Amino acid sequence: MISRRFDLQNTLLLAVSCSLLITGCTDNKASADSSHDAFVDSLLTTLSLEDKVGEMTQLTIGVLMQGKQHKLSEPQHLDEAKLQEALIDLRVGSVLNCGNHEHSPEKWHEFINGIQSAASMKRSGIPVLYGVDAIHGPTYTENGILGPQQIGLSATWNPENARQAARATAKQIHALGIHWNFSPVLDLARDPRWPRFWETFGEDPYLVGQMGTAMVDGYQNSEVPFAATLKHFFGYGFTLSGKDRTPAWIPERQLREYFLPPFQAAIEAGAMSIMVNSGEINGIPVHSNKELLTSLLRDELGFEGVLVTDWEDIKYLMSRHMIAHDYKEATKMAIDAGIDMAMVPSDLDFTKHLFDLVTEGSITENRIDQSVRRILMMKAKLGLFDTQGFPPSLEAYPATDQFEIDAASAALESITLLKNDEVNGRTTLPFSSEDKLFVSGPTAHSLNALNGGWTGTWQGRDTAYNTAGRPTMVEAMETRLGSERIVHMDLGMEFSDQEIQRVVRSIQRQKPSRVVLGLGEMPYTEFMGNIEDIALFENQKDLVRAVHMTGVPLVGVFIEGRPRAFDDIEPMLDAIVMAYLPGDYGADAIAQVLDGIYNPSGRLPFTWPRHTSAHLTYDHKYTEKFHPNPSRSSFNPQYTFGFGLSYSAVELSELRTDRAEYGMDEVIEVTVNATNTGSRPTNELIAIFSQDKVASITPSVDRLRHFQKVIVKAGETLIATARIPVADLGFINRENKYVVEPGSFGIRVGNEIVEIEVIN
Ligand code: BGC
Repeated sequence: MISRRFDLQNTLLLAVSCSLLITGCTDNKASADSSHDAFVDSLLTTLSLEDKVGEMTQLTIGVLMQGKQHKLSEPQHLDEAKLQEALIDLRVGSVLNCGNHEHSPEKWHEFINGIQSAASMKRSGIPVLYGVDAIHGPTYTENGILGPQQIGLSATWNPENARQAARATAKQIHALGIHWNFSPVLDLARDPRWPRFWETFGEDPYLVGQMGTAMVDGYQNSEVPFAATLKHFFGYGFTLSGKDRTPAWIPERQLREYFLPPFQAAIEAGAMSIMVNSGEINGIPVHSNKELLTSLLRDELGFEGVLVTDWEDIKYLMSRHMIAHDYKEATKMAIDAGIDMAMVPSDLDFTKHLFDLVTEGSITENRIDQSVRRILMMKAKLGLFDTQGFPPSLEAYPATDQFEIDAASAALESITLLKNDEVNGRTTLPFSSEDKLFVSGPTAHSLNALNGGWTGTWQGRDTAYNTAGRPTMVEAMETRLGSERIVHMDLGMEFSDQEIQRVVRSIQRQKPSRVVLGLGEMPYTEFMGNIEDIALFENQKDLVRAVHMTGVPLVGVFIEGRPRAFDDIEPMLDAIVMAYLPGDYGADAIAQVLDGIYNPSGRLPFTWPRHTSAHLTYDHKYTEKFHPNPSRSSFNPQYTFGFGLSYSAVELSELRTDRAEYGMDEVIEVTVNATNTGSRPTNELIAIFSQDKVASITPSVDRLRHFQKVIVKAGETLIATARIPVADLGFINRENKYVVEPGSFGIRVGNEIVEIEVIN
C-alpha cells in the first residue's frame, strides 16, 4: 500500500516537534500547547465538512477487516476496499479494538501501518487516532505484561503501583503504534452485583481519585506520547438492579458527593479524554444529557479534552433507550449534549447523518468545529502529525523485565489475608515446611480466573490466548513449595456432588495437613457478568462444607473481582485470602503469601457484605446502625473497608492532633503510633477518617480523608504523621454546593478517635 506523508503546507507544523511531548519540562509543554493551538487552528481552516464529520467518527477494526464483522477471516487481514470506503471516502478519524482477540506486536504493526497508510491517502492526510482497552497491561497483545486489575491495584493502597502499571502499559502499547487507552475506570464499586466492580478502584471517592490520578499520570507522563480516558462519566455502576447499563436513580447531590470527585481530580491532573456512561440517570441517558456533558463537564469543571461515547451509544438512544425516533435524531441529541467523537463503531451511517444535520442547519458548523478542534489537539499532543501515526520500529519494543517485576510486586502487595485462625496451637497460615497440602477448587488451576475480563479477548475466558508459561495458583505453589508436598485435584466451575465426594475421599487417603481451595468466579465483563444474587455459588459452598467435615485445616482463596457472600460457610474456613484478579503474576504472589515468604499487606478497597441483600458501604449513615443487635440494624458486613491482616500485627495507638481547634483555612496534623507486635516487618495501612458530628445533611459515620502505607519493622514503634486540610472535611449541601460546616469532628484511625473543633 502506498502511503502519503502528511503534507499540509504549513510551516507551523515544524514547530510541533514530537520531542515536545516528553515530560518533565513544563515550559516546553506550555509552548508546545500554544504551538499546537496555532497549528490546529490553521489546519481546521483547511478542512471540509466531510473531513470534520469523519474526524468525529470512530469505528471498530472489525469493520475494516476481511470477512464478516462477527466472523472475521483468520488469520486476520485488513480489507483494502473497506479501508478505502471508511478511511478515505468517509475520512473516519479514529479506530478502536482488536478484532476479537489479541495479536502479536508484528500483527499490530501490520494493522496500524495499513490503517495509517490508508489515512494518509485521504485529502487532509490526518492520521488516525487508535484506541484500545489495555486496562491491566496490554490486554490484546501476545506476551504483554499483565498485572492486577484495578480492584487489586487499589487493595495495595499504594498509588505508585497504579502509576507504574500505567507507565508499563503506555510503553508497550505505544510500541504497537497505539496512543490512546480506554483506562482508567473511575466509577465507584458500591454494589457488588455490578459486573464491572473489579474494573474499579473500589467504593470510596477519595481512594478512587488518588489511584486514578496516579494512573493518569503514569499513562500521560510516561516518556511516550500517550492518552488516558476517564470512564465512564459518570454515575455508571450504581444501577437499581445492579446489572450493567440499567437505570440509575442518583440525585444531583449524591452525584456530586460521591461519583464526581474522582473525575474532577483526574481532569485537574490533565486527563486528555473521557468516555461517557452508557446508562441512564434519573430517566435521562447520559449520552443525551447536556447538563452533565456540557454545563457540568465543560463549563463548570473546565474539561478541554475529547469526549468519546461508549460502544454504539448514540444508536442506543434510539434502539435501547427509546428517546429518539431514528438514528439521525439520536445523532443530533448526542452532539447537542456535547459528544466529540462517536464510538459508532460498526456502521457508516453516523458520519452521513452528522453531515446531513449540518448541511440542513440542525447543527451548526461551529459546534462541529469545537469537537474537531479538540480531536485535532489530542492528535497533535500525541505527536501523530510528526509520525503520521506510523508505529516506531519493532526493534524499539521496550524490554519488559522491569514491567514484570513491577506487576509481580503489585500483585504481591494486593493479596489480602482476611482470616487466620489458630488450629492445634498454630495459625493456619503461613504453612510450615512440614505441611503437606491438598489443593482443589474451581479457580485453583485457572490462569483465566487470575486475569479476569479484557484479557486476550473481551471476556477473558478463551484459554487459547493465555500467555504461555504463566502459572496457575497450584502450579505456582508447586514451584515455590515443591510438587512433592502438594496433591492437586482439578475441578471445573460446574462440579457435581460426586466430584465433591472424590475430593473428600482423596483428602482422607492423602491425609494432608492443610487443604487449600481456590474459590471464586471465572472471568466476565459488562452484561455477561450480570448476576441475580451475590451469594457464592452453591456447589462451592457444598465443597467447603464437605472438606470441612474431614477435619483438616482449610484455607479458602478467593480469586474473584467482587465479594460474593459466604457467611454461612465462613466459620468452616480456618484461613481466608482474597486475591482479587491479580493477573499473570498473581499465582506466585498467592503462593508467597500462603507460604509466608511474603507478609500479606493487601487491605480491602471495599466493604464485603455478609448477607446477599445488604450491600452498604463503609460511609453509610448513622441510621444504618442505631441498634446494638446487628440483625435489627443494617450495617453488619463480613469485612470492613480497609480490613486486612498480616502475619505480624501492627497496633495503632496514641492518636493525636497538633491542636484541638482549627480555622477553615488551616491544616490538621494527625499523628499516630504504629507498633509492630510481631516478629516480621509489616507493610501497614494507615487510613484516616473524619466524622462530622452534626451537619445540615445527615453525615456519614466515616469518610476517608487520607491514607498511607508504612513499613513497620518487627518490634518497632513508628510515628506516622499526616496533614489534612480542614477544607477537605466538607460535603455537598442542600444547595448542591461543597461546604465545610463549623463544629465538632472526630478523627479516626483504627479504633482510636480524637475530637477536634472547626471554627469559622
Ligand atoms: C465498554 C468500555 C470500553 C468500550 C471499548 C464498551 O463496551 O463499556 O469500557 O472502553 O467498550 O471497547
